[in-house]
Amino acid sequence: MKILTIIGTPHNGNTRAITDLFTGEFAENGNEFDELVLPRDFDAFCCGCANCILNGEDKCPHYAKISPILERIESADLIILATPVFVGSCSAGMKALLDHLAYIWMVHRPKASMFGKVGLIITTAGGSGIKATVKLLKSNLSFWGVPSVFSYSATTMKMKGNYADYNDKDKIKKQVKKKAAAIKRRLKKNRVGFGTKFLYGLFRATQKNGWNKTDSDYWKAMGWLDRKKPF
Ligand SMILES: Cc1cc2nc3c(=O)[nH]c(=O)nc-3n(C[C@H](O)[C@H](O)[C@H](O)COP(=O)(O)O)c2cc1C
Repeated sequence: MKILTIIGTPHNGNTRAITDLFTGEFAENGNEFDELVLPRDFDAFCCGCANCILNGEDKCPHYAKISPILERIESADLIILATPVFVGSCSAGMKALLDHLAYIWMVHRPKASMFGKVGLIITTAGGSGIKATVKLLKSNLSFWGVPSVFSYSATTMKMKGNYADYNDKDKIKKQVKKKAAAIKRRLKKNRVGFGTKFLYGLFRATQKNGWNKTDSDYWKAMGWLDRKKPF
């Protein structure tokens, strides 16, 4: 099994500590790990040209940077998105990466591989903004087509803090262990549920009218406007 961590901060703090606790739970024979640290491994901001959506992803000015990253995302079984909460949302590095993948949202040109994956969102914060941040990251994974998305959030995480300094570190460790066990069970028995099927059906119907030819040509070429399905 391949586990890809995308961590939205280069800071060696709370988010790194909790993420390492999770990946430690997956340190078993045969598991492979990959990691992207943002903005170190992807530092471009979307300039809003919409070329990816309207004219094809290869027309994005940052295609050479984003394309190998998407390959790494596609080859993972478990995708971990980890971010501290900054002013009520995910880090700018994380948002910049997600913006470049707008074209793989189900409404446009989803990747078939996404329908077989499991996602995990990790957020740390002082106290506010967790809900909105998890919602934002969850909607990205869900609209990519990932059918199973878990989340783990830790609050009262002070700045410049580290998991090891916290009084409730044993509680955090226990919670992480429990969640990791649930994720492992899901990875063995992942399935596309009603929510994903519903969204897929909705977007498939819109592709039949084809307001964006780049998208509808893709759906047609994948055979998804006939009987074929990505799951
Ligand atoms: C620029 C900045 C903005 C922040 N904004 C929030 C916020 O909106 N809500 C919150 O609860 N904590 C906020 N915090 C606190 C961090 O989310 C929290 O300390 C987090 O665990 C830091 O993660 P790190 O140790 O991985 O860097 C902010 C911290 C920084 C540096």
